[in-house]
Amino acid sequence: MKRSVIDILDLSVDELNGLMDTAEDIIANPDDYADSCRRKKLATLFFEPSTRTRMSFEAAMYELGGNVLSMTDAASSSASKGESVADTARVISCYADIIAMRHPKEGAALVAANNATIPVINAGDGGHCHPTQTLADLLTIRREKGSFSGLTVGLCGDLKFGRTVHSLINALSRYDGVRYVLISPEELKLPSYVKEEAIKPRGIPYEQTESLEDAMPSLDVLYMTRVQKERFFNEEDYLRLKDSYILDPAKMALGRQDLIVMHPLPRVNEISVAVDRDPRACYFKQVLNGKYMRMSLILKLLEEAAS
Ligand code: CP
Repeated sequence: MKRSVIDILDLSVDELNGLMDTAEDIIANPDDYADSCRRKKLATLFFEPSTRTRMSFEAAMYELGGNVLSMTDAASSSASKGESVADTARVISCYADIIAMRHPKEGAALVAANNATIPVINAGDGGHCHPTQTLADLLTIRREKGSFSGLTVGLCGDLKFGRTVHSLINALSRYDGVRYVLISPEELKLPSYVKEEAIKPRGIPYEQTESLEDAMPSLDVLYMTRVQKERFFNEEDYLRLKDSYILDPAKMALGRQDLIVMHPLPRVNEISVAVDRDPRACYFKQVLNGKYMRMSLILKLLEEAAS
């Protein structure tokens, strides 16, 4: 049966664990999966820029033995003539077996899923959700820390517009024993709906601070984020806030030896390149884990569509 993934909450905790288990098996036995999607086609519809998400979806499909149809730029598609997302989804359903779509508008992926006859994966819709980045994040945390239980997770930077933060909180909050330190300027605080829906009903401990230095010693995981320039209404606010946090070796010295540092990338200034040499920096491992988790998700949704 056709099924789409728009929000990380579309996947149960058992399914998240299963996707991570499959990803681990793909990592250990890649040849076993080399023909899994033979004669299947993935359409990547990206109405907003991307490097990692689009290319990792495409690499994932190729490594599963499938093919890819790629729309990398809305300006070169019929969206520029006014074609709706709904019609685009209907049309692409005639050519491909599964869609990965990124769009600047919140809710666009849901519109596509409601109109496509094939599974749709949300590859980022405005400031709303980015579920496959969360799959990459979960696998990275599980591989580096062993489990999610008992972890203090610091989320730092643009917690207001950062869709990866919203999706990660929605996922991690379903595992026992997590607590959060929310590190942001006042204007970029986590939206209250995320707190009300994901954190407070489960009684998850959290604190809010503007000081990364104060938070550092308590953290098991530090998730840095870029200030989302493309979501600001005026440039002046962006320029004032863009360098609110810069993680550098001096701040890393305040962190635990077993801290892991994550970032969905792209980074701008918020992590100094000198931190890349620190063994606690995990953001490039996250990139690779994203490809394996996208392989795992494509396999699952195509298997379900065939059943
Ligand atoms: N992390 C992420 O979504 O990166 P891209 O914008 O390059 O896809």
